[in-house]
Amino acid sequence: MSTIVINCKDSQLSDHANQLAKDLGYPILDGSLSVEAKQSMFQYELVLDDQGLSLCPTNTKLHGAIRCDFGSAANTHRRKHGGGNGQAIAKAIGVSGRFSPTVVDLTAGLGVDGFVLASLGCSMTLIERNKVVHCLLNDGLERARQAASMDTALGSIVGRINLVGQDSSEFLILLPPKERPDIVYLDPMFPERKKSAKVKKEMQAFHSIVGSDDDSADLLALALAQAKYRVVVKRSVSAEWLGGLKPSYSLTGKSTRFDVFALNKLPS
Ligand SMILES: C[S@@+](CC[C@H](N)C(=O)[O-])C[C@H]1O[C@@H](n2cnc3c(N)ncnc32)[C@H](O)[C@@H]1O
Repeated sequence: MSTIVINCKDSQLSDHANQLAKDLGYPILDGSLSVEAKQSMFQYELVLDDQGLSLCPTNTKLHGAIRCDFGSAANTHRRKHGGGNGQAIAKAIGVSGRFSPTVVDLTAGLGVDGFVLASLGCSMTLIERNKVVHCLLNDGLERARQAASMDTALGSIVGRINLVGQDSSEFLILLPPKERPDIVYLDPMFPERKKSAKVKKEMQAFHSIVGSDDDSADLLALALAQAKYRVVVKRSVSAEWLGGLKPSYSLTGKSTRFDVFALNKLPS
């Protein structure tokens, strides 16, 4: 597991940095430390500045900052020109002009998929158990909420997202029957492809922070007991079925596959 330090670059944010240090149990960077000493002691720093929170390698040559930026040009482009309900993820979930489901995303990560589904009108509950990832996602949602006065569409999308910092198994076990979601979505970490150059450096970093999601087959079993209509599992195209369970059908793209477990007919 990685060693992390909190680097507060703006003295006005020191209360926030102290709170993060308390919540996450990481030290705050001693400003008198040399770059070499910092690099030898810590692999990553959680940088807090006027851009929000980001996770950066202390060796800046390794890769760039990891952050959630829902107002970024890439997100805005996908929101406006990404194919809407024609996207594979939308078809797998079953979102349409007639059906805007409630979706629980059991593996929120940095919220990329959750944000896409919220932008298509789904009411999303995002669950993330890793505290660092949860903080990054929470920060991204918070900044998107603050930007809502300038971008009302972004505001209504994040208004459909509820973030929960918890283990999803626990969440599903404690879920009251009348709060069962229409759809449950899972995107566990892919098994690490050690020699593949295709795994982006940021993804490798994410892997080293989160580890592998070895309990995801158990999570699928719980999801199948709780979803009203469907459970959708995102896999890499060549991965085996999660837990060896055969889905009802799959939607296969270039690198990603959505395995759909259809439990009941969607409302029309
Ligand atoms: C591959 S990432 C998901 C990426 C996400 N779909 C996105 O679009 O950004 C998997 C994430 O699920 C989280 N996770 C895995 N199992 C979980 C569980 N049982 N409860 C909560 N979070 C979990 C991991 O911590 C990790 O952040």
